[in-house]
Amino acid sequence: MSRILSAFFLVACCGLSFAADDDIVIPNIEFKPIKELAADIPTCSQNDNNINECIKQGFQKLTPRLKEGISDLNIPSMDPFQLGKSSYNYNSGILQGRIAMRDVQIHGLSEAIVDKADYRQKDKRVRLDLLSHVPQMLAEGNYKADIKLNDMKLTPKGTFNITLTDVRLKTRALGELYERDGHTYVRLTKLETEPIVGNLRIYANGLVPDPVLNDVILDFINQYWRELYKAMLPETMAIWAPLMLKVANDFFAALPFDLIVTKN
Ligand SMILES: *[C@@H]1O[C@H](CO)[C@@H](O)[C@H](O)[C@H]1NC(C)=O
Repeated sequence: MSRILSAFFLVACCGLSFAADDDIVIPNIEFKPIKELAADIPTCSQNDNNINECIKQGFQKLTPRLKEGISDLNIPSMDPFQLGKSSYNYNSGILQGRIAMRDVQIHGLSEAIVDKADYRQKDKRVRLDLLSHVPQMLAEGNYKADIKLNDMKLTPKGTFNITLTDVRLKTRALGELYERDGHTYVRLTKLETEPIVGNLRIYANGLVPDPVLNDVILDFINQYWRELYKAMLPETMAIWAPLMLKVANDFFAALPFDLIVTKN
């Protein structure tokens, strides 16, 4: 009964939608058609024997600019990355239930370091494998949840922050080239990323009304973060992956691929 009541509470008081396509709301980005690139945007040549090094350096030149955003590339300011609201259902391991987050800011993306790029092109098919890492990321915002954590039933709400250290990202993009209006464009068919976290420290208030017990639960969460992360990652990525693919494809529909990987 209390379960039904708290679910009702979530829907009634917070306007949370349980519809699948409303799990994440991010700000709309306007992708204006790009006809030529500004001189300070790095490009690589398809015939360069060192194209992988070129791509790696290209990313490395652009990542610090994520702070301001790169309007010439339709890239908005991404450090901090603003995430309007998102919600996730978890049902495995030591965590079960629903967590909704609002006004989340993620700091640190502009500090990303690209360790390795591996680009392949065969006829119309392209593939890019990227290994990168972010030394430190901080996510902070508001949350509300209806969960069972290791048999404890909790319906907390409050603010949180999570410090992630040494986040390694293994990204694979697969795509197909096509021609349009005298340019070559890319349509991604797959965009996968696997984040491996070195260390994680979470702070949250409002887990329970009693601050002392709140700290006890936090200690438990921080002690078992690897198990929690393992339980949360599949659902979190299942929500994010299609969204990332869609945003990437909107991005590449506006940016001719032959402007960034030139034919000569
Ligand atoms: C997280 O929030 C707590 C409480 O507001 C604060 O003491 C702590 O400094 C924050 N951590 C970071 C890394 O901002």
